[in-house]
Amino acid sequence: MGQLRDVKKVRLRHLAQAKHDADKIVMLTAYDQPTAAIFDAAGTDLLLVGDSMGNAVLGYGDTLPVTLDDCIRATRAVAAGATRAMVISDLPFGSYEASAEQCFKSAAQLMKAGAQGVKLEGGTAMTAQIRLLSQAGIPVMGHLGFTPQSVNVLSGNRIQGRDQASADHLKQESLQIQRSGAFALVIEMVPAGLAAALTDSLDIPVIGIGAGPDTDGQVLVWTDMAGLTEWTPSFVRRFGQIGQALRTAAADFGSAVRDGTYPDDEHSFQ
Ligand code: KIV
Repeated sequence: MGQLRDVKKVRLRHLAQAKHDADKIVMLTAYDQPTAAIFDAAGTDLLLVGDSMGNAVLGYGDTLPVTLDDCIRATRAVAAGATRAMVISDLPFGSYEASAEQCFKSAAQLMKAGAQGVKLEGGTAMTAQIRLLSQAGIPVMGHLGFTPQSVNVLSGNRIQGRDQASADHLKQESLQIQRSGAFALVIEMVPAGLAAALTDSLDIPVIGIGAGPDTDGQVLVWTDMAGLTEWTPSFVRRFGQIGQALRTAAADFGSAVRDGTYPDDEHSFQ
């Protein structure tokens, strides 16, 4: 098989092969059709309809207020913009934790909206959920380390797995996620050495965010990656200044309206 970037439509087997070939997997969040189409055309392998939409575009302080309806609507839009990339949708807080049955009902709605897999947070406690979904034909991506939906019990956005006990716990949890049937795992905000060890110990692809370079792939929240906002977490490199570009465009539009140079004859119906 060739490299992941040459694949016409990304599927589970390509991700497994990418891990085997040490071919890096590229994932970005997307919350709407135009950005999904842009990232898809740029060769992004996985588009995550992340519940980070809460902080990134809905103006909330964290991901907890994001609803299943928010994720369904965004999934429809992102699926409409994606042709090559695999679309993974987050199960938002409150939509899956109570039981495997609750989880299946929520995940099925995301799949009907165009997702090709779902992501959920948590380890051993999610065993039944991951098993049922995988058996029902729904690819599941796990999420460990800093799990934003648990921000309150984790006492804020903190690096996880720094001491031996919590590093060992993360190793056990990640193995359990793999055993339950997940096809991939996101690990967020853990020391680079631990992320490398987790990646080595698992057969499924591990996608890192704030987890150093030695994972099977990387994910960033697109608004951080492209520099939409002033503040970004310290592990983010800004690959663009999209916020500045939008501000300049809006200011130029305002000036042209105010000084009467827009609309001109070229942009008016005669
Ligand atoms: O919601 C999200 O964007 C995520 C990423 C941070 C992995 O879960």
